[in-house]
Amino acid sequence: RILRRQMVCRRDIDGLNAHFLLIYKSLIPPEEEKAKQKQLLTLLEKLVYKEWPQAQLYLYGSCANSFGVLKSDIDVCLAMEDADTIKSEVLLKLADILQSDNLQNVQALTRARVPIVKLMDPETGISCDICVNNVLAVVNTKLLRDYASIDDRLRQLAYIVKHWAKSRGVNETYQGTLSSYAYVLMCIHFLQLRRPAVLPCLQEMEATYSVTVDDIECTFFDQVEKLSGFGSRNKETIAQLVWAFFNYWAYHHDYANTVISVRQGSVISKHEKDWTRRIGNDRHLICIEDPFEISHDLGRVVDKYSIRILREEFERAAEIMQYDPNPCEKLFEPY
Ligand code: GTP
Ligand code: MG
Repeated sequence: RILRRQMVCRRDIDGLNAHFLLIYKSLIPPEEEKAKQKQLLTLLEKLVYKEWPQAQLYLYGSCANSFGVLKSDIDVCLAMEDADTIKSEVLLKLADILQSDNLQNVQALTRARVPIVKLMDPETGISCDICVNNVLAVVNTKLLRDYASIDDRLRQLAYIVKHWAKSRGVNETYQGTLSSYAYVLMCIHFLQLRRPAVLPCLQEMEATYSVTVDDIECTFFDQVEKLSGFGSRNKETIAQLVWAFFNYWAYHHDYANTVISVRQGSVISKHEKDWTRRIGNDRHLICIEDPFEISHDLGRVVDKYSIRILREEFERAAEIMQYDPNPCEKLFEPY
């Protein structure tokens, strides 16, 4: 393995830009899909409020963080006081209610890491996962959405990276590769580190938004309309950024010693976090700090087999971006 290769970007990179933008546009969900999601949420609200008038339903995940590609499922959080001790009862009751309203494939998964009820709405064809009181996910969804509204290149890069990861089979946490959420954080971090920077670090700025969830203080600058134009001194195109993203993860990231941190807008040392050795099932082979649950490494699912697969995929993508005559086809080839 030749690490830290200095690569100069191919000369025809800008010719690829239009291609990448077309791929990005083809992944954006059409308005009808958004409308159907809304319709399903309205139905769920009606059913839930009848049983629990004090409860609230929130969308989170890709249907609300602006990184949702075509035909995504929707993630819903049911927030209610005092439900934490009886989460599984709430979920079983919820499953009951949904089943009697003709929703299909209703399943309560009460023993999952994040317990949920799954369902499919035959009217809209949309599948949905509902969790209880996972409010941190609602807050990190807002953080991602706020970052996306600062510079369009984040959404473009993240769509392309997610599409690549799904095509290449490296977006499967149960197989030891990374979640979509982890990939979006990698993209944000990468754009914070460009020079000139494409994105700021919202958590290091004045706190205009502040909530405390599960004893974790979540604060950041959320008046993002004031930051439009932040990245305009950086003229890199999406093709250049895709090239540089894969180059970074293939040849420049220091897997052995560093953690990427969107919270600080920089890399930090594994020592500082005590993430230098395996503890339980957490191996810390690729370290991505959650912006709020800072003891949480989103790379924890990666093991000694899947880290090789991931790194080989980053290298494959970097090579394609450097040398392949038709990188837009080759990059997304099914594995
Ligand atoms: P796709 O469904 O693949 O399009 O992407 P997604 O954005 O919905 O991502 P994913 O299914 O990975 O996760 C859904 C949401 O759950 C994320 O947007 C986060 O808000 C939250 N989430 C996922 N994994 C974690 C985690 O490990 N920790 C925390 N705190 N939140 C998570
Ligand atoms: Mg999702």
